[in-house]
Amino acid sequence: MKALLKRLLPKTLIGRLKKAKEQLGSGFIRLMGRSRLLAKLGYGVLSSRFSRENFVTAAGIRRHHQLNQQPQQQTHARLRRNTHRLEKGLLMQPRREVFGLAYLHQLVSDFSDQAAKNDACSEELQWASSVLTEFFLVADNNEPAIKAAKDRFTAVGYQSETVAYKPYRRDTSLHSQVEFEDFKKLAMQRRSVRWFTDERVPRPLVERAMGAATLAPSACNRQPFNVYIVDQGDKLKRAVKQPMGTSGWEHNIPMLAVFVGDFSSFEAARDRHVPYIDASLAAMNLMLALETLGLSSCPINWPDIEIREQRMAKLLKLDDWQRPIMCLAIGYAQEEGGIAFSQKKLPEQLIRYVD
Ligand SMILES: Cc1cc2nc3c(=O)[nH]c(=O)nc-3n(C[C@H](O)[C@H](O)[C@H](O)COP(=O)(O)O)c2cc1C
Repeated sequence: MKALLKRLLPKTLIGRLKKAKEQLGSGFIRLMGRSRLLAKLGYGVLSSRFSRENFVTAAGIRRHHQLNQQPQQQTHARLRRNTHRLEKGLLMQPRREVFGLAYLHQLVSDFSDQAAKNDACSEELQWASSVLTEFFLVADNNEPAIKAAKDRFTAVGYQSETVAYKPYRRDTSLHSQVEFEDFKKLAMQRRSVRWFTDERVPRPLVERAMGAATLAPSACNRQPFNVYIVDQGDKLKRAVKQPMGTSGWEHNIPMLAVFVGDFSSFEAARDRHVPYIDASLAAMNLMLALETLGLSSCPINWPDIEIREQRMAKLLKLDDWQRPIMCLAIGYAQEEGGIAFSQKKLPEQLIRYVD
């Protein structure tokens, strides 16, 4: 229909109709901005703008509950969250003798299920095991719930490594020699690079940089995202066209990293923003790490547009509870390639002291 109208109607009329539609749309949105009720009516009923976000949130929670019913398949999210809750309890000041009862049994069950799996992550198990061991050492074992959990934990018979992944004192932690000026220099060196040489990006180098990216903070240490790397053939050609912001320079991107949120990591909609935040924090670490390894990058916006989302989901074979968050072009910078000046806001423009 649209194509037929395009052929039949004169170009000037099409232009005017487009403009009128845009004006109507922006007038409607401005009206919605007047009250929450109108916004709810507009975005909730009349427009489907947020339907993908709503769906991925619901599909994620659904998947989370499904996984909870199949402990052998449990993703690591709940184990990770509860282990972290327990380690935070361990470092509380003052520390209570009884804590964590709301999730302790769940944690021991998840630990036991994961320990029985052949493909469980040994590092993750080591962490959970160390934290639980420490907890049972210091908590009040006269408390029946703690005693029962300890017995179940001991019965798992997990052989832990010699290095314990348990909370430690700040004064024993690693201290880098990086001075502020060095760090600032690295931050200044990292600029959005859009012009790359055609040299292939070695995957081991990206894996090395990911080793620093994964050190980024993450809500309850869940790290609810994956990074899909597309670096060859037709898939690369198609992938680099999906975000809108690559127009005109997509042909010279040698590697595209797509940060994809995993919304099955959450049991409630209140946490729906976490994948966006956690993935972005890791992306920042990744960009800085890449710089230290001689590679450059450009973050690329992921637009919330149905057709693009569908194409990317098909290309990456994503599930309903996964969603692209942002992309990163990675490559060796063309030395003569241009860099936008992109003047930065001053600290005083950003900081607002609340006295
Ligand atoms: C979330 C995000 C999305 C971005 N999207 C695009 C994009 O689609 N296309 C593009 O060329 N640059 C994109 N950029 C790069 C910005 O234009 C760039 O970061 C900004 O101008 C500051 O410049 P700098 O990165 O060199 O410091 C994006 C950056 C961020 C953080």
